[in-house]
Amino acid sequence: MTKTFPGCTLACYMKEEILKEISIKKINVDSCVPYDLLLDADPSMQAIEKYLPFSEIYIAELRERTIAVIALFALDNDAVEIKNIAVEPSLQRNGIGRFMLEKAIQIATDKQFKTILIGTSNSSIGQLYLYQKCGFEITGIRHNFFINNYTERIFENGIQCKHMIVLTKSI
Ligand code: ACO
Repeated sequence: MTKTFPGCTLACYMKEEILKEISIKKINVDSCVPYDLLLDADPSMQAIEKYLPFSEIYIAELRERTIAVIALFALDNDAVEIKNIAVEPSLQRNGIGRFMLEKAIQIATDKQFKTILIGTSNSSIGQLYLYQKCGFEITGIRHNFFINNYTERIFENGIQCKHMIVLTKSI
């Protein structure tokens, strides 16, 4: 029989316990940047090196281990873009990505940005689901972005990653 906890299942209870233990820390581009995680979200080190020095980088720590990262890049005084978000593979699907997105929205709101953007591939079905669940709406498509800017062909969910879907949330 499934053990239940007030208002949720064991899996849900464990997710909540993990989230309670996470702390978010802003880091400097010169410190211990988790490149392995950044590369999980964006396979081009060349692309990462272009935006990272101009981004605010936040990491999530769980028991002194870096388990997630998010990079925020100001496009202008009103708009900020989430250039990179990644969660350690073994801890994915525990609500940490959603938690990081909510933190990013909170940080952007506190800094008085009016809009927050995120771009992902046409093939990133789970990510498109997550971002829309967090209130982002599809506002644009950058056709052939991944074909024109990445040397390797990328496939995800059996679909070729070709176009960047841009999602925006007013804050
Ligand atoms: N496939 C299917 N559904 C997904 C996926 C996925 N890969 N990721 C998230 N979801 C959906 C699920 O419905 C999930 O809810 P459920 O588990 O109750 O069904 C919901 O979104 C919430 O997901 P979280 O658990 O909060 O997401 P997670 O902690 O796994 O973080 C993230 C999401 C950051 C996309 C993570 O999977 C990851 O690091 N992936 C590899 C790197 C990556 O693709 N980063 C984004 C690239 S775009 C960019 O960086 C701007």
